[in-house]
Amino acid sequence: MKTNWYKEAVVYQVYPFSFMDSDNDGMGDIPGIISKLDYIKDLGATAIWFSPLYVSPCRDYGYDVADYKAIDPKFGTMEDFDRLMEECRKRGLRVIMDMVLNHTSDQHPWFREALKDKNSPYRDYYIIRKGRWAGRKKNKLIPPTNWTSSFTGSAWQRIDGTDEFYLHLFAPEQPDLNWENPAVRDEIIDILKFWLDKGVSGFRFDVFNMYSKVYPLRDDRSPVRFQKGTPYYVDGPRMHEFLKEMNDRALSLYDSYTVGESYIPDPEHASRYISEESGELDTIFDFEHLNADNNLKFMPKPFDLRVFKKGLIEPQLRHHGRGWNTLVLENHDNPRSVSRFGINTKKYRYEAATFLALVTFMGWGTPFIYQGEEIGMTNSDFRSMSQLKDPVSHFVYDMMTGQLHIPGKAAFAMIRRGARDHARTPMQWDGSVNAGFNTGAEPWQCINSNYRDINAEKDLASEKSVYRFYQKLLEIKKTDKTAIYGETIEYDPDNRKIIMYSRTYEGRRLLIAGNFSGKKTECIIPDDFALTELNIKLTNYDRNRVERVMELEPYEAILFEEM
Ligand code: NOJ
Repeated sequence: MKTNWYKEAVVYQVYPFSFMDSDNDGMGDIPGIISKLDYIKDLGATAIWFSPLYVSPCRDYGYDVADYKAIDPKFGTMEDFDRLMEECRKRGLRVIMDMVLNHTSDQHPWFREALKDKNSPYRDYYIIRKGRWAGRKKNKLIPPTNWTSSFTGSAWQRIDGTDEFYLHLFAPEQPDLNWENPAVRDEIIDILKFWLDKGVSGFRFDVFNMYSKVYPLRDDRSPVRFQKGTPYYVDGPRMHEFLKEMNDRALSLYDSYTVGESYIPDPEHASRYISEESGELDTIFDFEHLNADNNLKFMPKPFDLRVFKKGLIEPQLRHHGRGWNTLVLENHDNPRSVSRFGINTKKYRYEAATFLALVTFMGWGTPFIYQGEEIGMTNSDFRSMSQLKDPVSHFVYDMMTGQLHIPGKAAFAMIRRGARDHARTPMQWDGSVNAGFNTGAEPWQCINSNYRDINAEKDLASEKSVYRFYQKLLEIKKTDKTAIYGETIEYDPDNRKIIMYSRTYEGRRLLIAGNFSGKKTECIIPDDFALTELNIKLTNYDRNRVERVMELEPYEAILFEEM
């Protein structure tokens, strides 16, 4: 029986490498996570999504899985995981596992077998093709298609000593699975059931809309596309069928929840992936609003609130009544939210962190909060490429300085702005050695140097606590039916400083208004809200009166209820 529990849930994302290191080896681990479950619970979360905990050589920090049914020893054992499940259960926290099923690690036994033996059945678990002989003398071996990987360069890797290549839409160490092969899909169903039988409540599917490719494989002839091949591997022809199969054979047999992480889905497909009728996924992530201050992550552009609002609000309008939505500000793939969008972080960190939380999570959809966001953690002051551990930072830097001839300093400045590494520095628990992440061993990724000023202990003791603001916000978000189910109506979408929308449900109305700027800004309450009947439910300043025309303070955000 599906209970739709996720609609009233608040999900907290844990990135295990960087959450809590209990054995002081420099990397986070499961016992460390267990020691902090009360912190997550007290915040108001009702579910935890764990970035991958499976055995992995960590080329892409767990997003390259070598065994889907085993816990990586650096995080602990399966007994530790079972204890984690039990401790979560005791606290009423559901567990959502990350499922990386577009590709495996090149160290997965399936792939090793596939390479070792040409006649192995595992060969057809992957997408292996002969290269093409090119050049005037036909003596140059080029990849089967001109597709590029999301991590730069060709999406094909030559298999040593052969004229064959395998497809990898991410790093060469992440070979794509061949979803056309029914045996692969059987394996996947088996993996999903393995975790569901352990009691997990759902999955986050990594880049799910790349599972289905267009066959026969062919070149992308578009002259301008930045990433070649996307029309042939994004939202492919069998996507809906594959999702439905997972649902029919595994997910629907349990009270499970799914959220798909996608590569820029086409809106029509997106609607179908999550429509209640199609029985595919429950939700997807939408990251459009996070492009409001950049192109392709690393190229800065001036922050445009209209882009942010469109990205945040449009999915709420599009999917309401048909499926369900998610709300996201941060994750392990994005810089910290208080360090972007034109925010003067030094001056307005508390105001901006609380503002962003209120205007984002009061929308329609299930909130996803990324570790550290709830204390307003910021980007790091990385000084050199050697401090960046994410392979993508290095791939892109090499492309910029190589192919694009961008000087090293300028390339580093761009990488530093968009790097995923900012989200991956260890959690700042307190002002002690290594921010309380461990007891002194050098962390795998350097700690943000501001940890003595910004840490959970200090935040909680402060008058202006981001964590306590989140607590109040999430309490409303979880219990107020209008905040959960209400329909969203946006006001003044072209306003470049003010964000304003209402939520309506069964005759009740909430109004969310905020000043997304570092200057006092005029905000006009829409005429159809009767002022005398407005009541402030939450604000990040001390305001206690509402007027039709108000000057909002920098990053002031207010939640009103019409009584
Ligand atoms: C999306 C994940 O969030 C990211 O961290 C990873 O690098 C890619 N998918 C490839 O798995």
